[in-house]
Amino acid sequence: MAPLSPYGTQEFDSRQFRTAMGQFCTGVTIITSMGDNEQPVGFACQSFTALSLDPPLVIFCPQKTSRTWPVMEARGSFCVNVLANRQQEVSAKFGAPGDNKFAGVQWDPSPLGLPVIRHSLTWVECTVENVLDGGDHYIVVGRAQTLGEVLQDKPLLFYRGGYLSTEHPRVTPAANQLDDLITWSGGDEWL
Ligand SMILES: Cc1cc2nc3c(=O)[nH]c(=O)nc-3n(C[C@H](O)[C@H](O)[C@H](O)COP(=O)(O)O)c2cc1C
Repeated sequence: MAPLSPYGTQEFDSRQFRTAMGQFCTGVTIITSMGDNEQPVGFACQSFTALSLDPPLVIFCPQKTSRTWPVMEARGSFCVNVLANRQQEVSAKFGAPGDNKFAGVQWDPSPLGLPVIRHSLTWVECTVENVLDGGDHYIVVGRAQTLGEVLQDKPLLFYRGGYLSTEHPRVTPAANQLDDLITWSGGDEWL
């Protein structure tokens, strides 16, 4: 691959674009839902983020070729499972196409009947609010309906096409300092 000039380049292929975007470290989620036939479905997804506090909205971006997204769209709801570091195998399983991704994976139904994968750091179930076009992906906006409990564990991270973890517990300011910081930086206006 040709090195990029320090001033950047306007000529790049999708491999270079992917490499550049891979410098952005994310967490890993499994987005799940349930088919008409009560078959659980899901896929590994890093393109997840919180979008809005009020109303509580999130987004994720499924490829247009995804086989599970149409099932989620038909159901009108999905559950975001935020993976812990120990769940790398779960990520690998749901990150490849297959009819039996839930084999050996323990899960419980959410209030809307969607799969909550055990040992996830937390989960949020959402109803589909909007679906926008995003090139070869869709941009799905979801409204949070139920928040799961939060486990004290390390997150699974995805960076440069591989998995890594963080040290835990990390050092944070004392709670009162954090309150001050949040107040100083605009309080409720930022996630
Ligand atoms: C760590 C990781 C992150 C991924 N993030 C996304 C993503 O954000 N959007 C997406 O469409 N696919 C993503 N994938 C790929 C899908 O999980 C994969 O294509 C899967 O086979 C899709 O399954 P489906 O066709 O059953 O929907 C990711 C895979 C991995 C391993």
